[in-house]
Amino acid sequence: MAWCRQLRVCHVLVLALCVSAAEDFDWTKNEMGSFYYGTFPTGFSWGAGSSAYQTEGAWDKDGKGMSIWDVFSRKKGKIYLNDTGDSSCDGYYKVKDDISLMKEMKLNHYRFSISWPRILPNGMRSDQINEKGIQYYENLISALLENQITPIVTLYHWDLPQALEEKYGGWQNSSIVNLFNDYANLCFERFGNRVKYWITFSNPWSVAVEGYETGEHAPGLKLRGTGAYKAAHNIIKAHAKVWHTYDTQWRNKQKGLVGISLSADWGEPVDITNQRDIEAADRYVQFYLGWFATPLFNGDYPQVMKDYIGRKSAQQGLGSSRLPTFNPQEKSFIRGTCDFLGIGHFTTRYITQKNYPSTRGNSYFTDRDLAELVDPRWPDPGSEWLYSVPWGFRRLLNFVKSQYGNPMIYVTENGVSEKMMCTDLCDEWRMQYFRDYINEMLKAVNDGVNVKGYTAWSLLDKFEWDEGFSERFGLYYVDFRSKNKQRYPKASVQYYKRIISSNGFPNQREIESWRRKATETCTSSNQLLAADPLTSHMEMVTEIVVPTVCTLCILICAIFLMFLLRGRL
Ligand SMILES: *[C@@H]1O[C@H](CO)[C@@H](O)[C@H](O)[C@H]1NC(C)=O
Ligand SMILES: *[C@@H]1O[C@H](CO)[C@@H](O)[C@H](O)[C@H]1NC(C)=O
Repeated sequence: MAWCRQLRVCHVLVLALCVSAAEDFDWTKNEMGSFYYGTFPTGFSWGAGSSAYQTEGAWDKDGKGMSIWDVFSRKKGKIYLNDTGDSSCDGYYKVKDDISLMKEMKLNHYRFSISWPRILPNGMRSDQINEKGIQYYENLISALLENQITPIVTLYHWDLPQALEEKYGGWQNSSIVNLFNDYANLCFERFGNRVKYWITFSNPWSVAVEGYETGEHAPGLKLRGTGAYKAAHNIIKAHAKVWHTYDTQWRNKQKGLVGISLSADWGEPVDITNQRDIEAADRYVQFYLGWFATPLFNGDYPQVMKDYIGRKSAQQGLGSSRLPTFNPQEKSFIRGTCDFLGIGHFTTRYITQKNYPSTRGNSYFTDRDLAELVDPRWPDPGSEWLYSVPWGFRRLLNFVKSQYGNPMIYVTENGVSEKMMCTDLCDEWRMQYFRDYINEMLKAVNDGVNVKGYTAWSLLDKFEWDEGFSERFGLYYVDFRSKNKQRYPKASVQYYKRIISSNGFPNQREIESWRRKATETCTSSNQLLAADPLTSHMEMVTEIVVPTVCTLCILICAIFLMFLLRGRL
């Protein structure tokens, strides 16, 4: 009985906590409004980002171990054109060059990730520490600090040591929680005197869903309806453990912050006067962002996830929910383990209610009972999933404010790609995307959302996972076919630089001139780019063109001969 009463008291307490933290988000009020002229608070931090596997290359150099992406990208048919990140941008060799690109824009921070198998080749600290790998990150951090660029460091951006996948089944196995903690602890020990912003995981939604549910990403498992939930469960526990390690062992000395970077598209109800659409849109965001954010801020999964997955599991005749549960100790251990919340955001969907009968198999996607729609008038300059819907960003940021008690936010990823083989450095649509998304972020700051910094995604074109090199997110164009992976500024470099130097959008006249000036510079760079590939592609040219030219010559000679002979007759 006493136990029962205690539990009841706890329950009431938890409820009270939740109520005090979460205001209601107003789904029915979407003021899109016009462009807002104004600036960000002083000290607002401007940056750009990257991740290890996408940019470093040097996949087997200086003692680095294999990651699940080294293995996955070698499997035929998994990556567009069977490309790999083996060399990518060769960022491993170009620290100085890339820092000068950041200086050109006067970035305040640079977000990058540490490759776990580069410093622990077999994943385990007890096994072997690769000092050469550590040295690479030491040098990178030093070079950033010498140039007054603050490093924001991600511990896990998807490149799990392959050894841990083979031995434990990766994020499916709770043993990984302690192994990740050992790795993080090593990073705090070696880099923490100079790194003050730590991100445990980048986009864990993608790790869980694309790695273990759809299999589009490494390790490529298709454990539908269970794999993603299990992976996410271990990721959340691992995050909390690492936060506590920092809090108890390092915070006093190092005085840094530990957060996570969650990616979420915005979900707007198709009809904001229809309660069922509103509930469906709420589910969309809860299954996306709330899946991770609600445990870290409130101690448990969103109620709507527990309800939906629980009910569907029961209908399928399962003895327990496919969504794992946290016990009371775990809940209190996990609650409040986010010093700042990183937000990655790219696009928006319209959402409407749609029932999926549980007899039709189960998956993360059908568990949500909703359908995603897009407005055909939305511009989609690059990746097929990426529609430019700037107002969705302001909605998402306000949602975070109301749901999680107005946490400190760093935007950790925001940007747009361009279509394959595009060598146009005059990226008009990217300038417009940055202008409009950053403007909506400014409106959100004025709404009272606590955004402290913004990270443009990404510094360079890079390996885009299953899309290979076919999608380019960079402010800088990278010629992947050239030996030295030459970088060229796109017009958006100049444009973003002006946003940074003005700390926002001072007035209409000035902003109109930005675009014109940025476009002037890219026209001359375009000529550079057009000239360069001629030399770097000599091999290809000889391979393909020489035989073709020879064949043509023979043909022309033959025809000439025919004419000659005919003339004789
Ligand atoms: C990728 O590899 C698969 C399997 O070997 C092959 O069928 C496919 O044609 C390859 N694709 C390209 C673009 O080379
Ligand atoms: C987790 O890994 C350990 C050690 O390899 C193994 O004994 C255990 O069966 C694994 N558990 C799961 C759920 O895979």
